[in-house]
Amino acid sequence: MTVRHPSTARSNIAVASPTMAFIGAVVLTLTLSIVLASFRAGGAGSPSPVTPPVASPTVDPTSEPTATPTPSPSPTATPTPSPTPSPTATPTPQPTVAPTPVPTPLPTPRPSVAPAPPPVTGGPPVCEYLDVLTKHVGYGEWAISLLDTIFHLPSGYAPGDLVDSGAAGVNGGYLLRSIVIADLAALAADARANGTPIKLVSGYRSYAQQQATFDYWVSVGGYKQALRTSARAGHSEHQLGTVIDVTSDGGAAPWEYADWATTPAGAWMAANAWRYGFVMSYPRGAYDQSCYDYEPWHYRYVGRDLAAHIAGSGRVPRLVLWELQ
Ligand code: DAL
Ligand code: ZN
Repeated sequence: MTVRHPSTARSNIAVASPTMAFIGAVVLTLTLSIVLASFRAGGAGSPSPVTPPVASPTVDPTSEPTATPTPSPSPTATPTPSPTPSPTATPTPQPTVAPTPVPTPLPTPRPSVAPAPPPVTGGPPVCEYLDVLTKHVGYGEWAISLLDTIFHLPSGYAPGDLVDSGAAGVNGGYLLRSIVIADLAALAADARANGTPIKLVSGYRSYAQQQATFDYWVSVGGYKQALRTSARAGHSEHQLGTVIDVTSDGGAAPWEYADWATTPAGAWMAANAWRYGFVMSYPRGAYDQSCYDYEPWHYRYVGRDLAAHIAGSGRVPRLVLWELQ
């Protein structure tokens, strides 16, 4: 094998024949011609002409690039919206026509008829000073006629059967209804038999007598004090003709005692009068219910049945009568 020194190879070419040199020159010329023609034609992929490179401007990295304004695209013509077509009228459903309710007229409240008398039930009744005609004013209603500081009898109320108290076997001089006589006679007889005889100091009082009596007590102790011990005209139970004021036979007036009910006759009456149909209208310690000071001598005849009921209740007669109105 022969190893050629590079310098040796070059020298070999140079020593080729003149024919070979001529052929090479022709080939080289043709190749340059084709390349130059291709460049002039601008064909892609054509090799760039051999021109001196143009130095690119140095770009400062900190500078803002000069923005080449991009022309705004022509605004696309916005189509004019077509007017919203009117919706097809949908028939409005007719609501079910409810009949207009006719309001029920409310009764126009009417003011209470005034002045209304105080209620006679649902007590306890308070002590007031009014002038209300009592409900039971018939002469046959003597047992339940309510008389107090509120209720009164007609001024002309005067029972037609008044008789003298002597008819009952007690002292005379006072008028009482005949319906009282029998039981009063029995009471007086038993009181006498017990050794505690009684005598009357008062009976029926007319309207005029009540007026005179009340005025007297006003003159003695004044109007306010008189109200506590004496009924105004028309308000006294004495007008019924069924009431008695009693004391010990042979004794002083009952109001002269500190407490007549502590005397023998007074005690006997307090314990037994109801058995004969009599009740103590104004018991001790019951001012708020009876509306009068204690009167151990004042007894009202209401009949044996009602008297027993009142005594059994332990209540003030006025309260029981109030409930019977
Ligand atoms: N003393 C009694 C309340 C009357 O006057 O009837
Ligand atoms: Zn009396």
